[in-house]
Amino acid sequence: MKNILVTGGAGFIGSNFVKMMLDAHPDYRIINVDALTYAGNLENLTDIDDNSNYHFIRADIRDRTKMDEIFASCAIDTVVNFAAESHVDRSIVEPEVFLTTNIIGTQVLLDTTKKYWKVNPDDKYCKEYKPGVKFLQVSTDEVYGALGAKGMFVETMPLLPNSPYSASKASADLIVRAYHETFGIPVNITRCSNNYGPYQFPEKLIPLMINNCLNNKELPVYGDGMQIRDWLHVSDHCSAIDTVLHKGLNGEVYNIGGNNEKANIDIVKLIIKTLGKSENLIKYVKDRPGHDRRYAIDNTKITSELGWEPAYTFEQGILETIEWYLDNQVWIANVVSGEYTVYYERMYL
Ligand code: NAD
Ligand code: DAU
Repeated sequence: MKNILVTGGAGFIGSNFVKMMLDAHPDYRIINVDALTYAGNLENLTDIDDNSNYHFIRADIRDRTKMDEIFASCAIDTVVNFAAESHVDRSIVEPEVFLTTNIIGTQVLLDTTKKYWKVNPDDKYCKEYKPGVKFLQVSTDEVYGALGAKGMFVETMPLLPNSPYSASKASADLIVRAYHETFGIPVNITRCSNNYGPYQFPEKLIPLMINNCLNNKELPVYGDGMQIRDWLHVSDHCSAIDTVLHKGLNGEVYNIGGNNEKANIDIVKLIIKTLGKSENLIKYVKDRPGHDRRYAIDNTKITSELGWEPAYTFEQGILETIEWYLDNQVWIANVVSGEYTVYYERMYL
């Protein structure tokens, strides 16, 4: 039995993770803490409403009093920190919330874990923790910056983030590392490549292009469309986090990726073809400022040391994802009503 605090569990990856964990570990209790920003959606979780091992608490990870109450009342022994502002384009127009949520929010969680997990919290020299506790920080490959035509990200590379989003995630990684080194908190950091799959908010490339295609709207491709991302199905990211949670060595960083490098324009054309639309919908628009040209993950450490392997090929995953969006048009319709329209107009029109 574990009592796992999942933060940001109403978002895209967090909601997939909560459901996967309840399925894979029926004896674990999941406490999902989410502030329900524009990206948090309880509709992602309706199928587990009746699960007695699942509890939802609406709270902000920056709220110390609330985090304290949750640790005290739920006997939390594991934290998986997904909660974040996650969209690069938004970080370019409104960086501040990225810094407060992604950096300060992480620090508040670390302070709270230190208080509740350390054997003697008042002794600054004590590095002894209750058995079995772990803090897992869900980070991103974007902290490494951009690659040229060759090479891959490895865990030992320096952090060279280029956007306010990736700088805030890199800062959080460094705070997690410092709390491990100074206070001894048992931690892991995971750095995953781009995810796709069900329940992704349509501000991100793949769901945005699917939704626009379905509505015969222009498909806004930044710059020349030749930027490369390394795509991983969300369920493979979730299984990798589960693996690191159980097998990861204390203090270690693990890259997560499935060797699926694709140029943006090729993904857009694949979506157009699958949905039987015309390439005339493509509209090349002004590039994203500070746009990283290429990401690629070297996953040798997690595959060889922890035995994790992705289950999906990109070809299978993308078809299933397009089908999911076709079958869940009510979900998209609800998501794109209200704030999304204001966002879309400000960003693209
Ligand atoms: P998302 O934007 O879909 O979800 C983020 C969730 O966090 C939302 O439910 C939101 O309500 C919640 N949240 C935001 N601020 C909060 C706060 N102050 N307190 C509590 N909850 C708050 O994001 P996602 O794509 O699911 O990403 C989840 C995590 O994974 C992030 O940390 C992100 O950096 C990381 N990540 C994402 C990807 C990707 O491709 N999407 C890849 C690698 C890593
Ligand atoms: O690499 C991991 C990261 O992947 C995560 O840490 C982030 O949370 C996640 O948002 C994602 O960041 P990206 O910036 O790579 O994802 P996004 O879907 O926003 O964009 C993917 C690529 O597509 C990028 O090169 C920009 C381009 N793009 C995106 C949008 C939304 C377009 O050309 N047009 C668009 O309208």
